[in-house]
Amino acid sequence: MQFEKREVNPRAVAVNRGVERAANRAIRAYDRVKARLGLRGRAAAYDDGAYEFVGGARDALRKKHYDKSLRLLWKAEQVAPWSSFRDATDAERTLLSMAERSMTSAEKAERARITGAEFRALLDREYTPAQKRALVAILSAIGHGEAYAWLVSASLLGEVKSTGAKAAVTMQIVEEAKHFVVLRELIQAFDVPVPRLSAWEYVLLEGSLKARGLEKFYAMNVVIETIALSIFGLLADKPGLEVLRMFHLDESRHTALPDNYFKEFPMTAWERHNPRARISRLTKALPALPLVLLLEEELGELGVDAFDFAGAILRKVATLSVRAGFMTRELADRQSVFFNAMFNRYCRLTRAGHAWRNYMEAETTRGAAEAAVEREIFGGGTSDAA
Ligand SMILES: [Fe+2]
Ligand SMILES: [Fe+2]
Repeated sequence: MQFEKREVNPRAVAVNRGVERAANRAIRAYDRVKARLGLRGRAAAYDDGAYEFVGGARDALRKKHYDKSLRLLWKAEQVAPWSSFRDATDAERTLLSMAERSMTSAEKAERARITGAEFRALLDREYTPAQKRALVAILSAIGHGEAYAWLVSASLLGEVKSTGAKAAVTMQIVEEAKHFVVLRELIQAFDVPVPRLSAWEYVLLEGSLKARGLEKFYAMNVVIETIALSIFGLLADKPGLEVLRMFHLDESRHTALPDNYFKEFPMTAWERHNPRARISRLTKALPALPLVLLLEEELGELGVDAFDFAGAILRKVATLSVRAGFMTRELADRQSVFFNAMFNRYCRLTRAGHAWRNYMEAETTRGAAEAAVEREIFGGGTSDAA
């Protein structure tokens, strides 16, 4: 390449560089002292000398979450053709029409691009008004949760160390944004009033957003994402709700994030077991129980026992908590025994002819594909139950 080199004043260049070096030393020293004094020093945990975020590259985290998320990226236009989303690229649209060309006419009818009005008619055909209200009550519980998941994951971006972890969390932010806007459109298609947040959910979700530092991983990725995973696992095989399969897949990756992160940056024994953190984790998860009780009628409308649902959630939360180091196996087992006793006591009071059972062994995830995804995270069988 031919450039017409310009002459500059070498002395001016040397002075400017010298001034910059002195200013650099002063600015960074000032921020370092402030940080040491517990004041706000440098805001970004970014190591520009290494061209890396503080914590290093951590490519394993990036590969497991960022790369994998992109590989499994789904577009609403493809999986929810009835929605208003037009987010597929030209290449994706061409692929879709090629796939449709090779289908038999019966397959084509099945895969027909239905419009919003047709989708609403399908929901009316498949579900009674009471079932629609129940589905909206359950789905909106997690619909509101997606708004918080979006905010919490965005606030986690500044808390995690390393380039790999920041890339992983960034993908979660993008996925939660997609979950919120797509689920909102699905819920609105039911044409029934969308309930506000229940008091229990309000406490649960606000608690996750206000959680300190990496305790957000517990409140959000362990507790709330497991509730989301369980709701999507319960409903993804129902007519018209097939898009929830994609949500289920994303949430399963999100629940694995704390464990993968702590493998790279382990919590100290104090961070894991100090009494304040233990109490905070317990209180963060507690509102989930009255929340499930509040949905007993709606779950019943769909043929699901609320305590089976709660038991399955608690077992999965316990597995993830123990694996990520938020709880010892012994404590998790003690909690499971306690909650199972409470559930049985409640059922004895409210259900005629109740026979004792271990709700912690229940499984409410329905579809075969969803069960396979969960087996990968939680292991086979129910050996994690108390
Ligand atoms: Fe989500
Ligand atoms: Fe999520």
